[in-house]
Amino acid sequence: MALVNNNALAIVLCSVLALPTAFGTAQAQDQCLTCHSTLEDNASTAFKGDIHFRNGLTCASCHGGDSHTDDMEKAMGTAAGFIGVPKGDRISVACAKCHSDAGVMVKKYNSAIPLDQMELVGGSVHGKLSTSGREHIAQCTSCHGAHGIVTKTNRSSPVHPLNLPATCAKCHSDATFMRTYNPSLPVDQLEKYKTSVHGKRNKNGDPKTAECASCHGSHEILSAKDPRSQVHPTKLPATCAKCHSDATYMRPYGIASDQFEQFARSVHGQALLEKKDLGAPACNDCHGNHGAAPPGVESVSKVCGTCHALNAELFSSSPHKKAFDSRKLPECETCHGNHEIVAAKDELLGVGEGAVCAWCHKENSNIKGYQIARTMRSLADSLIVSEENAIMLVDEAEQKGMEVGEAKFKLREIRQARLETRTKVHSFDLDQFSEVATRGFGSAAKVSTEASEAIDQYYFRRWGLFIASLIITILAFALYISIRRIEKEQVQNR
Ligand code: HEC
Ligand code: HEC
Ligand code: HEC
Ligand code: HEC
Ligand code: HEC
Ligand code: HEC
Ligand code: HEC
Ligand code: HEC
Ligand code: HEC
Ligand code: HEC
Ligand code: HEC
Repeated sequence: MALVNNNALAIVLCSVLALPTAFGTAQAQDQCLTCHSTLEDNASTAFKGDIHFRNGLTCASCHGGDSHTDDMEKAMGTAAGFIGVPKGDRISVACAKCHSDAGVMVKKYNSAIPLDQMELVGGSVHGKLSTSGREHIAQCTSCHGAHGIVTKTNRSSPVHPLNLPATCAKCHSDATFMRTYNPSLPVDQLEKYKTSVHGKRNKNGDPKTAECASCHGSHEILSAKDPRSQVHPTKLPATCAKCHSDATYMRPYGIASDQFEQFARSVHGQALLEKKDLGAPACNDCHGNHGAAPPGVESVSKVCGTCHALNAELFSSSPHKKAFDSRKLPECETCHGNHEIVAAKDELLGVGEGAVCAWCHKENSNIKGYQIARTMRSLADSLIVSEENAIMLVDEAEQKGMEVGEAKFKLREIRQARLETRTKVHSFDLDQFSEVATRGFGSAAKVSTEASEAIDQYYFRRWGLFIASLIITILAFALYISIRRIEKEQVQNR
């Protein structure tokens, strides 16, 4: 029994030992590795786990030289094409020799990985000249290292999602280094990232959340100001949506996957994505770039207030401020929503169907707010009627050819007041609201009076003209009669 077991073990052992020998013949010829292994240098130690080693490449594949000889002089001689330790751009050139060449990658190594890394890096922000002016900012090894390179899905790769933030931060968190390039560029990306939902999950070992490359790309990275960049405002929503609109991908987290769809329908989304209005917010204007997290209940109005300053200011001094804070209601979001914010209509105001005020203010509870909401709405409605009436009168006067330049100009004052009342809603104070509405009514009254007067004048002139032409006709007729009479008298006198 024991014998059989030992035999079995021996067979297993033999086959295990046989494997590296068969596999190792290619490398056995790598005298560079053999000799350097005895030196126990980092290069040869790391190289044994390298994807290039596994594909039968030798030290000479990158450094040149003759890997078949154990003669140091010959192996590392210039005659054998030894280039020593490549520096600057010669590093990337050494990598691109294979990685940009389909003849090598596809034909020789049967590889399916892309061949565009060199080209992309060259056109990227990292392909600019470094401050020394002699080389480009980043070489392939800046992100991948030189020895011990493994596939990107291997947990120990520096470009594995869980390691990449530290890899990019080698440069980007180094203030002294970064300052030599662009002193205005922040160096806090990693610090902020660590505070985000993405960063925290990444640190805890979840490779599915966003890291630097999910938002910026890898070889093709461009400045955020470049319209081709994945993080340019007009493209960013789609970049976030790669994950956040993928229901299957997001399911394990139990959060919705409709943010992009809603955003695209919103006033903000339409302004940004369709009208290319860079003043409208993209996802990161509300969530932060590197610190991406939902704005907390306390900070929503601060976020919206960066653009809608007046609304936020009015809200802060309104009776709702305290009422919302104590109930932990987010300030703007409660009435407007977050992703699907629609154009504000007057229907939102008041106590009718579709009015937000009616959610909390009823005829029999929270009454004061109810009454004020109703009054504000009726003032708003009346202002619209007054404005329409004024416009109608001005149009009529204009059609009749009367001079209405000034009245037309004053129409703008009414419109201005109407728009201002919509902002003033956020004071939730009837006095402040009425003050602006009253100004609007005043302008409307003035314009209407002026236009009516112009119309009256038109009729006055038209009657005047009629009478004048009547008189002229009568006079002309009288003249004709008298001429005829004179002619007759002359004939009779002859
Ligand atoms: C017989 C031993 C031996 C062989 C074979 C050998 N090397 Fe070396 N190599 C060394 C030693 C020793 C050094 C250190 C020399 C020094 O520090 O000046 C070295 C240095 C180097 C360096 C660093 C040079 C520098 O300027 O710092 C590189 C790169 C290198 N070897 C690559 C290779 C490659 C590629 C091959 C195969 C084509 C190879 N070596 C073959 C022993 C060897
Ligand atoms: C995939 C290409 C590649 C292969 C294969 C490769 N090297 Fe290198 N090696 C480089 C590059 C690039 C550098 C330049 C340093 C850097 O950018 O990190 C370098 C640097 C070195 C240095 C300088 C000291 C250091 O560690 O940076 C030595 C020594 C060296 N290599 C030896 C070797 C030996 C020995 C082998 C084989 C066991 C080997 N290299 C295989 C690309 C390669
Ligand atoms: C002699 C040709 C050759 C040279 C030179 C070379 N590589 Fe490679 N590289 C390969 C091959 C072959 C593979 C394996 C491709 C595969 O698995 O499909 C590979 C794989 C890689 C991978 C892993 C890709 C992945 O995620 O699966 C990286 C990263 C890489 N190389 C980077 C470099 C860098 C950086 C250099 C220069 C320092 C370099 N290579 C130089 C041939 C080369
Ligand atoms: C700014 C950092 C950076 C630089 C510089 C860089 N890479 Fe990469 N590389 C990455 C990242 C990140 C990935 C992983 C991309 C992913 O997950 O889609 C990657 C992936 C790869 C892959 C796997 C296949 C692929 O394209 O996704 C290869 C091969 C590769 N790089 C080679 C190179 C070569 C060759 C160079 C130099 C010309 C280079 N890289 C320069 C960051 C970099
Ligand atoms: C070798 C150092 C180095 C590494 C590694 C590096 N970068 Fe950079 N990066 C720079 C420098 C330097 C600049 C500034 C270029 C300039 O504006 O002159 C820059 C610029 C950028 C910019 C453009 C900033 C702007 O808006 O102008 C982005 C985005 C960026 N890097 C992202 C990354 C990401 C993501 C990674 C990791 C995948 C990374 N970088 C890795 C050095 C590096
Ligand atoms: C969730 C997406 C996302 C992730 C993850 C991310 N970034 Fe960014 N990053 C952005 C956006 C969006 C901008 C553009 C900000 C703007 O419009 O000014 C940006 C800007 C930058 C800039 C330009 C300077 C600045 O701070 O505005 C650099 C450099 C940069 N990122 C590097 C990184 C690095 C390094 C990482 C990883 C630690 C990273 N980013 C992770 C989205 C992201
Ligand atoms: C690579 C995929 C990916 C990309 C790209 C991505 N995210 Fe995420 N994001 C996730 C995952 C996964 C979570 C974790 C969900 C969770 O924990 O609830 C997350 C979480 C979040 C959260 C926190 C949600 C919560 O539950 O509190 C916010 C906010 C967020 N992302 C915003 C963004 C924004 C804005 C962008 C674009 C600038 C973006 N994300 C890009 C995958 C991604
Ligand atoms: C106008 C500001 C604003 C914009 C633009 C915006 N968000 Fe949000 N987002 C919010 C607010 C506020 C919340 C908080 C929800 C809550 O806690 O009630 C939120 C919540 C989230 C959450 C958490 C889960 C959820 O649905 O509540 C994710 C994920 C998210 N947003 C992703 C995105 C993405 C992706 C985009 C771009 C397509 C985006 N957001 C655009 C304001 C915004
Ligand atoms: C209690 C509900 C409520 C809250 C809270 C609220 N709003 Fe409004 N908002 C309204 C109503 C109602 C209107 C429409 C008024 C109209 O058209 O008559 C409106 C209109 C608007 C408008 C369009 C009119 C204008 O000012 O240009 C903007 C922008 C706006 N709100 C932003 C905000 C911001 C920012 C916050 C948070 C500081 C906020 N709102 C909080 C109810 C609210
Ligand atoms: C980056 C600036 C920015 C941020 C942040 C922002 N908005 Fe806006 N918002 C705009 C712009 C620009 C428009 C006008 C879009 C258009 O119609 O062209 C707008 C339109 C609106 C409208 C419709 C106004 C109308 O006249 O009908 C409302 C309501 C609104 N935003 C509410 C909010 C709320 C609530 C938040 C926070 C959750 C917010 N906004 C965050 C820039 C911003
Ligand atoms: C999410 C619920 C909610 C919504 C929506 C809401 N309110 Fe209120 N409102 C309150 C609460 C709670 C108070 C504080 C009541 C108290 O202190 O007794 C309040 C107070 C007020 C007050 C002050 C009343 C007083 O007693 O001095 C006014 C005025 C008011 N709201 C008007 C409005 C108008 C107008 C709207 C619609 C544009 C509106 N509210 C929408 C919850 C809401």
